[in-house]
Amino acid sequence: MFRNDLLRPKRILITGGGTGLGKAMARRFLELGATVYICGRREDVLQRTAAELSPHGPINAIPCDVRNLDAVETMIDSIWKSGPLDILVNNAAGNFIARTEELSPGAWNSVIGIVLMGTLHCTMACGKRWLASNHKATVLNISATYAPVGSAYVVPSAVSKAGVEALTRSLAVEWGNRGIRMNAIAPGPIPTQGAFSRLMPRPELEAFALDRNPMHRFGTTEELANLTAFLISDGSSYINGEVIRMDGGEFLQGAGEFTALGRALTNADWASLKPRKK
Ligand code: HXC
Ligand code: NAP
Repeated sequence: MFRNDLLRPKRILITGGGTGLGKAMARRFLELGATVYICGRREDVLQRTAAELSPHGPINAIPCDVRNLDAVETMIDSIWKSGPLDILVNNAAGNFIARTEELSPGAWNSVIGIVLMGTLHCTMACGKRWLASNHKATVLNISATYAPVGSAYVVPSAVSKAGVEALTRSLAVEWGNRGIRMNAIAPGPIPTQGAFSRLMPRPELEAFALDRNPMHRFGTTEELANLTAFLISDGSSYINGEVIRMDGGEFLQGAGEFTALGRALTNADWASLKPRKK
C-alpha cells in the first residue's frame, strides 16, 4: 500500500510506544524508513520493544512519565541533540472502567494527567521548538470514539480525550500557517493487553462489544498503523484539524433512529410489512 521509503528520513516520537498500538505504529514507521523514539514509564518494557523492533530500523527507547513536564523537557532536549523531531504521536494513555461516583481525586488526576496533560506537555515541548526554528512538523493524537459525545464508566478518559480533540482542532488553526499540521485518530476497540484488561476484563464484555459492531469484529493494529502512516506522511499534507474515526461503523450504529430494527424485526416481519398488492 505504501512505498517503503514513505517516511524516510522522518524522526518520530511515539509516546507509549513500548506496547499495544504505539508498538504497532513504531514497527510500521520503521518499515517505512523512519527513525523512531518511544517513551513510557517502564524502562524494561521499552528496552524489550526496542530490541525486538531494531532489525526493522533505528529505534531509541527513553523512559519518561509524560505527566511530568520537567521529564518531558529533558526527553525532548535529549532527542533534539541529534536533530529535531518531524512528527509527534501522542498515544500514551491511562484508562479503566469504574462507576464515576466511586472515583477518588487520585483516580481523576492519574488519567487526566496522562491523557490530557501528557499530550499538552509533549505538544508544547515540541511545538515551541518547531515554531522557533520554522521547522515543518506534524502531530497526531490518538483519541477515542466517545470523545465528542462522552461515555459513562470511563469519564476521566472521556473528558481528557475531549480536551485532546479540542487541542487538535485549535492548534491546527493557530499553528497551521506556520507549517505544523495536527490531526487525530479515534479508533474503536482494537485488542491490546493494556486496553482490554482494563476495559473488557470479562469475556462477556468482549462479546457485547463485538455484537455492537456492524462488522462484528474488532480492528487490527495493522489497520491502525496504516492509517497513522498515511496521516503523518507528506502524502496527506492538506489534512489538518481532522479527527478520523476508525471503528468499523460502531459509532454510527448507535446514531440512527431505526438502526435497532435490524435486531427487532425478523425476515417474516419484513415480509409482512411490505405493502399488499391491490
Ligand atoms: C477505580 C482506580 C482503578 C480502577 C486505579 N484507580 N485503577 N480507581 N477503579 N480500576 C485509582 C487508584 O486507586 C489511585 O487512586 C489512582 O487511580 C492511580 O492509580 P495507580 O495505580 O496508583 O496509578 P498508576 O500506577 O499511575 O496507573 C495509572 C492507571 C493504570 C491509569 C490507573 O491503569 C495504568 O497504568 N494505565 C496505563 C495503560 C492503560 O490504561 N492503557 C489502556 C488505554 S486504553 P488513589 O486515590 O489511591 O491515588 C484506552 C482505550 C479507550 O484508553 C477506548 C477503548 C475502546
Ligand atoms: P496500552 O498498550 O496500555 O498503551 C498505553 C501506553 O501508554 C503504554 O505503553 C504505557 O506504558 C504508556 N503510558 C501510560 N502512562 C504513561 C505515562 N504517564 N507516561 C508515559 N507513557 C505512559 O494501550 P493501547 O490500547 O495501545 O492504547 C494506545 C492508545 O490508543 C491510547 O491513547 C488509547 O486511549 C487509544 N485507544 C485504544 C483503543 C483500543 O481498543 N486499544 C481504542 C481507542 C483508543 P507505561 O505503562 O510503561 O508507561
